[in-house]
Amino acid sequence: MSYSIAIDGPAGAGKSTIAKKIAKKKGFIYVDTGAMYRAMALYLIRKGIKPSESEKISKACKDADITISYENDEQIVWLNGENVNPYLRTEEVGNMASASSVNKDVRIKLVELQQKLAATNQVVMDGRDIGTCVLPDADVKVYLTASSKVRAKRRYDELTAKGEACDIDAIEKDIIERDERDMTREMSPLKQAEDATLVDSSDMDIEQVVEAILGLCK
Ligand code: DC
Repeated sequence: MSYSIAIDGPAGAGKSTIAKKIAKKKGFIYVDTGAMYRAMALYLIRKGIKPSESEKISKACKDADITISYENDEQIVWLNGENVNPYLRTEEVGNMASASSVNKDVRIKLVELQQKLAATNQVVMDGRDIGTCVLPDADVKVYLTASSKVRAKRRYDELTAKGEACDIDAIEKDIIERDERDMTREMSPLKQAEDATLVDSSDMDIEQVVEAILGLCK
């Protein structure tokens, strides 16, 4: 098994920003598992399937061929041969990803892909169930979190920078709902692995978090 770093935590905790920087410093590949769930969600949205239609989701997910590749250190997610990166970061896709990721067939399919990637590459992988389920033997496990207020502000800044109109209170409400769904689902809920180190980034800047995690790798 290759060396692996698992970073789990709720939406907006800064996982992807931090994981990307750590991957660059270590020369590992960064695997954004949320993007895989988002690609699956996009596929389901395009099929007109609703979050509540679990049987349809189980059936349809089998026809979604999701793969990833890397270009200039950036992860590209391919959905049935199409680069879907430009469509993954909307609130609609995020909410559908949270809803459809409770589905067992969706999880089995994507976890298998994630484990294959980690078997042949040194990875920094982020998600919700990496330390608990995907890579239970990861060399370093981090549970990265921040208060819902801080997370909502970060998401708000990200969306407004892209020119998307949004409301900070609605974003915080969405974040709290998504946390609740991710933490209480039956299969692989979001929780801190027993052997993970808790890092609360509410009052830390990016470099401080990166340094803290690199310290754990020594
Ligand atoms: O990290 P993100 O916001 O891109 O993830 C979108 C959704 O995907 C999230 O609400 C829950 C789900 N997800 C998951 O269930 N397991 C993972 N390892 C990663 C994401």
